[in-house]
Amino acid sequence: MESKREVFVVRGTAGKRTLQGSIPVYGAKNAVLKAFAASVLFEDGMTLQNVPAIEDVHRITELLEKSGAQVSFDKKRTYTVLAGKKFDTNLDTTLAKRFRASVVLTGPILARYKKVSFPHPGGCVLGGRPIDVFLSAYEALGVKIVHKSDRYFLTAPKGLQGAIINFRVQSVTGTETIMMAATLAKGVTVLKNAAMEPEIVELANYLNQSGAKIEGAGTPTITITGVKSLRTNNVSYVTMPDRIEAGSFIILASLLGKDVTVTHCEPLHMESLLQHLSMMGVDLTIGKDFVRVRGNAKTKLTSIDVKTHEYPGFPTDIQAPMMIALTQAAGESTVFETIFEDRLRYVESLKIMGADVTTMNPLQVIVRGPRSLRGKELESPDLRAGLAYLIAAGVAEGESIIGMVYNIDRGYEKIEDRLSAIGFSIQRKIL
Ligand code: EPU
Repeated sequence: MESKREVFVVRGTAGKRTLQGSIPVYGAKNAVLKAFAASVLFEDGMTLQNVPAIEDVHRITELLEKSGAQVSFDKKRTYTVLAGKKFDTNLDTTLAKRFRASVVLTGPILARYKKVSFPHPGGCVLGGRPIDVFLSAYEALGVKIVHKSDRYFLTAPKGLQGAIINFRVQSVTGTETIMMAATLAKGVTVLKNAAMEPEIVELANYLNQSGAKIEGAGTPTITITGVKSLRTNNVSYVTMPDRIEAGSFIILASLLGKDVTVTHCEPLHMESLLQHLSMMGVDLTIGKDFVRVRGNAKTKLTSIDVKTHEYPGFPTDIQAPMMIALTQAAGESTVFETIFEDRLRYVESLKIMGADVTTMNPLQVIVRGPRSLRGKELESPDLRAGLAYLIAAGVAEGESIIGMVYNIDRGYEKIEDRLSAIGFSIQRKIL
């Protein structure tokens, strides 16, 4: 995939504000991947709409097909998935290792087929990314777990049994996976210390429309009363807007925008980010489903301290793009990453571009700004830092070459076309 060395070539504006126009936000990666996983729960098949054309979607559809599900791509952005009686519950190792959300499939598969086997999931390298929360919840639901040859074998021949589960840490995929597993369990399951991300609420709403009994999604306590089976009854799932993509576009516009409107988004899901940006001095107009950002040569941004937190706090997935904004803000900012143990390593490349960032420890840095950045050749280390590098390259003087574009394509559909449409100079090239 990378043998051809596909890269993005970005020509920076040395901080000049040139971007204009509107940029639409597409469906949320971290919502739709869970909806694909949910499709396994339904006996009558599921239709998904507003599905973004991103690599992680291709991986999950391949994984479902490999297990025997029928996946079809009807028209633009619409998929249907039918997991029938015959389903291979052994997840393909190579595919499952390529993205974290593969582990979410284990909940629906176990609930419906009473067994599943899978490897330790992959995904962006942000630290250890253990799955102990999933495994201890499964044990509480009566699942037998055998771990051998780097594979987990889970069985529940009599089905899952409802239980009270107190999550050790708030985990987004952990909450989603166990919530889905419990929809078909016998009796009542109570999830405590559940994650509260909007994607979880969206998933619970859809499951409830299809016959599940879930209460409390979006709060730390979710109660699920198991039902015998679920049917979508031809009601489609419509993917919500990606709040991380929207937030990244808003940050880009805060730095380089003359007048940019980010459309088809849900500002209510971005309150923490929007509050931070307005405190920094960004001129924002917040509508029902859009955010307009205006700036000119006189616009000055000021420093701010950022600490990532579970929703509704400042999202860890926006930490890297925000870092670029802080390199351009006057004064001293601090960034404290509290969710992942290794999500600040990308700052080393920003330092090479001229950013003044001091690493205090693996979780905390100090950023002094504003500093001019210089175009460089960089490798995208993960999805979100990859997008941050594109933003940094746009702010910098001269040309940058960003490699490992697969990491960006995993979560952003045709980013080069969409950014070019508002005047950002970016080209996909094979070197
Ligand atoms: N954790 C454990 N044990 C577990 C599960 C999680 O210790 O069994 C820890 C993690 O190591 C981390 C913390 O709990 O320190 C929170 O992790 P969480 O489980 O919430 O993360 P995730 O579910 O693996 C999802 C998103 C991430 C996003 C995080 C946090 C998906 C597919 N991924 O990951 O998205 O950063 O929640 O909001 O939904 C991305 O899209 O680029 C991305 C990395």
